[in-house]
Amino acid sequence: MAVELVDPRPGVNPPNSGSGVVGGASIRVDGLSKAYTVRSGDVAALEDINLDIAGGEIFAIIGRSGAGKSTLIRCLNRLERPSAGKVWIDGLEITQLEGKELRAARRRIGMIFQNFNLAAQRTAFDNVALPLVLAGERGKRIEAHVMELLDLVGLADRRDAFPAELSGGQKQRVGIARALATAPSVLLCDEATSALDPETTSSVLDLLQSINRQMGLSIVLVTHEMSVVRRIAQRVLVLDEGRIVEQGDVATLFTAPQHPVTRELLRVPPDADGAWLRVAGGPDAIAGAVSLLQANGIAVESTRHE
Ligand SMILES: Nc1ncnc2c1ncn2[C@@H]1O[C@H](COP(=O)(O)OP(=O)(O)OP(=O)(O)O)[C@@H](O)[C@H]1O
Ligand SMILES: [Mg+2]
Repeated sequence: MAVELVDPRPGVNPPNSGSGVVGGASIRVDGLSKAYTVRSGDVAALEDINLDIAGGEIFAIIGRSGAGKSTLIRCLNRLERPSAGKVWIDGLEITQLEGKELRAARRRIGMIFQNFNLAAQRTAFDNVALPLVLAGERGKRIEAHVMELLDLVGLADRRDAFPAELSGGQKQRVGIARALATAPSVLLCDEATSALDPETTSSVLDLLQSINRQMGLSIVLVTHEMSVVRRIAQRVLVLDEGRIVEQGDVATLFTAPQHPVTRELLRVPPDADGAWLRVAGGPDAIAGAVSLLQANGIAVESTRHE
């Protein structure tokens, strides 16, 4: 890993920054609410959200369409201004920042999107360079930095390609390189793999996981793909109608989902509680059925062979 993640400003990096590894930022959300005013009145997109994410954690947010997932993730970097409540990123209260201070804080928060949000008229190189240019970096330093980032995401040889010449997975890799350009300590992902086929999703998830492990970056991801949550997240939050209905570590929540919405998202039948499933065959068939049920988030309390 050749990417230098040290912020030149004094006091900006945690003590371990000398190694080139920046610890991921912790995130605290306190009493967050967001209402949108529309013609027919107010829409409460988020209501009283309280949340703690540890530095270096991979944290997933799931929920039905319209639950408030994107609104929540966009409040974390102040792309949305909350109606009430506070958000701290690594102890810095981002909800009270404005202007220059807010822009500086935002550089510490990378974001990637479902539709990649790349500038169509710019090459892969220029897309990744853009945040560095905006941050005041110049000349040779940019060239070296961008090439390190493209190398990190496996696209050094496509530096001059335009987005239209890249596959979906490659576009998202450019998006990831761009998001990492300003050495963020948090990466926000809103449905970042939803436009990709399963194989490409898998390779993008591998990349995110290695970034998390090697750089210690905290990752917050919104997804409707339960396989993504299971694959890389440590904890998961379930939103419904703007409220948290359930949260916990992925293994527990997937094995024993409590709330009806969680069960619906995990496709657990509503009457699965206490039901016996009869399987034809011997112990091997039973073991196979148990694995299948567990893989679908259905807890198996006991088995018996008659
Ligand atoms: N700019 C806006 N103006 C008015 N209402 C909005 C705006 N953005 C979101 N909403 C409303 O806020 C609620 C939450 O929207 P949000 O986009 O956060 O949902 P989501 O969970 O991300 O859904 P999806 O899975 O479909 O992306 C919805 O009722 C939505 O219609
Ligand atoms: Mg959304």
